[in-house]
Amino acid sequence: MNKFSRIGFILAAAGSAVGLGNVWKFPYVTGEYGGGAFVLIYLLAILFIGLTVFIAETIIGQNGQADVSSSFINLSKTKNENWKFAGFMIITALIILSFYSVVLGWILNYIITSFSSLPTEAKIAGANFEKLISNDIFLLVIYHTIIAGSVIFIVIKGIKEGIEKVNFILMPLLALILIGLLIYSFSLDSFSKAISFMFTPDFSKIDGNALLAALGQAFFTLSLGVGTILTYSASLPKETNFFKSSIYVAILDTAIALIAGLIIFSFLFEAGAPSTAGPGLVFISLPVIFSAWGVWGQVIAISFFIALIFAGITSAVSMIEPSLRFFIERFKMTRIKATILCGSIFYILGIIALLSMSKTFGTELTFFDKSVFDLMDFMTSTIMMPIAAILTCIFLGFFVDKEFLKGKFIKHTNIFVFNSWYFLVRFIVPIAITILLLNKLGVI
Ligand code: PHE
Ligand code: NA
Repeated sequence: MNKFSRIGFILAAAGSAVGLGNVWKFPYVTGEYGGGAFVLIYLLAILFIGLTVFIAETIIGQNGQADVSSSFINLSKTKNENWKFAGFMIITALIILSFYSVVLGWILNYIITSFSSLPTEAKIAGANFEKLISNDIFLLVIYHTIIAGSVIFIVIKGIKEGIEKVNFILMPLLALILIGLLIYSFSLDSFSKAISFMFTPDFSKIDGNALLAALGQAFFTLSLGVGTILTYSASLPKETNFFKSSIYVAILDTAIALIAGLIIFSFLFEAGAPSTAGPGLVFISLPVIFSAWGVWGQVIAISFFIALIFAGITSAVSMIEPSLRFFIERFKMTRIKATILCGSIFYILGIIALLSMSKTFGTELTFFDKSVFDLMDFMTSTIMMPIAAILTCIFLGFFVDKEFLKGKFIKHTNIFVFNSWYFLVRFIVPIAITILLLNKLGVI
């Protein structure tokens, strides 16, 4: 059967969760919001909100045993066919995949150029980065093609032979590289500074924006609201303990984000560089620091960017699976056909995204003051993911048989856990996300 083993599921779901969100985004957002207090809020957001939705998606998938649309229908009290519209979230995953693949392409470029030399000054590093994304269209298309090709090559083989296998190889390697880098950062004087930066809360830095950023990051990092966890769970044997599995994945994802943060802040503080560089933190600040460390710095740079690629590939693979399953089950396509179809869609969207950042096509591909690339990011993480998460919670909280859900929880946990989760899923989480959504849209 094409199903995950329990450990295979945990690795694959962790592979999906652990990605650029952990190693690139978490450190720079933490830096922007001043460290400790943000980390604390982020951890609370993971524990109460992220984990609640993660478990929700796991339950729908594991008991629906089908693509997103059919799983919603199967599980609803009335088997109402209209729940098929919940399947819109697979589109979100495909859009994210389009620009995620482009960013992985940048990283590929960083691996290759790190072999020859590293920029010695922030100015040069900034200019290199700028040139890459706005000028080197041909290179970017090649990198995007390599990444997209790898994703297609992996998923075409299916759950067991493709996805599970790749995660079995790449996740341990990723852990190995990160542990190596962590041990190295232990040896730096600034390690203790990094620790106190990340774990001493300074609440003066926290405002509404920080709260919303923490919540948004909790969603993105756990791969929620795009049907990915739901679809992976649909290949989880029914008797597997969904609760424990969810907790393991959340712990792994959080641990890796914290480790990535410690490594990066140790490096930054060692060089006296600011922690507030934003998205350029990894692409501009780090290479300059590595360059001061000579050949050793090159080795570290290359290992670091390889870790990013490994983390990202296992996430990318998970983003296409919801649409594959949708076309295979609802349109009776073969896996190969579905992969070619969905692969072409995200490949072409990715090309448009990368062109939209270039000097040559940038103006044509800018709408509402945003490049197509930024628009894709904005539409997915600000609008589509939160809507899907709200829908998922309301669905479980009000349209699925309560006794059925209670039974599932009792089997693996206890009534207290069920009651807490049920309350979060019905009220707290949908309300929290609605506030997030309205605020981001400027309504409140
Ligand atoms: N969780 C991934 C990360 O942290 C991103 C992701 C989002 C993966 C949505 C799958 C689906 O990078
Ligand atoms: Na993540």
